[in-house]
Amino acid sequence: MPQPGGTSLSRPEGAVGPLVGIVPAGGSGERLGAQRPKAFVVLGGRPMLEWSLEVLTRACERVVVAVPAGEIDDVPDRVVGGVSRSESVRNAVATAPEASAFVVHDAARPLLTPELVERCVAALGDGVDAAIAAAPVTDTIKQAEPSGRVVGTLDRGQLWAVQTPQVFRADSLRHALRADAATLAAATDDASLVEAAGGSVQVVESRVENFKVTTALDLRMAEAVLAERC
Ligand code: CTP
Ligand code: MG
Repeated sequence: MPQPGGTSLSRPEGAVGPLVGIVPAGGSGERLGAQRPKAFVVLGGRPMLEWSLEVLTRACERVVVAVPAGEIDDVPDRVVGGVSRSESVRNAVATAPEASAFVVHDAARPLLTPELVERCVAALGDGVDAAIAAAPVTDTIKQAEPSGRVVGTLDRGQLWAVQTPQVFRADSLRHALRADAATLAAATDDASLVEAAGGSVQVVESRVENFKVTTALDLRMAEAVLAERC
């Protein structure tokens, strides 16, 4: 059993420097509509952020958390988040010039398991810039015009609902984050920036249980899953 603060993972192939965890926790949680920023809303008796932080602290040499400006909670290694999620990631990445690889994981996915982190790190093999957790899509996905008229049905067999953790070769992520503010604001994950920069991204099969807490219903579902785990 890994000890808190220790490192249980082997480094990605060819990596010489440390594995650094990045937790974007700088959002306001508008859709959740709580009194506090989402990452600090209590879930299962502790701030939501702590669930992810605990798992990443065991897997990484260091974990940097991007928090909302003015957030006074006692997060050991933190940086102020940006106006977009990607800017928050960029701010955190900038504090870790020593990293050879980054494990980026949203504070809003508190049901992360050590096993999933391990599989994503292991998938960062030769020629892979990013290995990202994703679940096979179970709904039928259609494309429609603004009017609602359907223009096509996508082949579900090739579709993945992307999550975090997303594990990156450090140089690939640093390079991808050198995009302008508009590109960073439009990106809903970091892997898409790596793709846009010509990098190679690999999905790692995950489960829907690693869902993102976005709404009040999600928060209730996360409470239920945690209660079952205990
Ligand atoms: N995030 C961040 N910095 C931002 C915006 C988001 O670090 N400027 C983080 C959030 O804290 C969250 C993750 O990115 O852990 C995923 O974003 P999302 O689920 O959209 O969270 P919020 O932006 O907080 O929620 P909302 O969009 O409903 O306001
Ligand atoms: Mg958001």
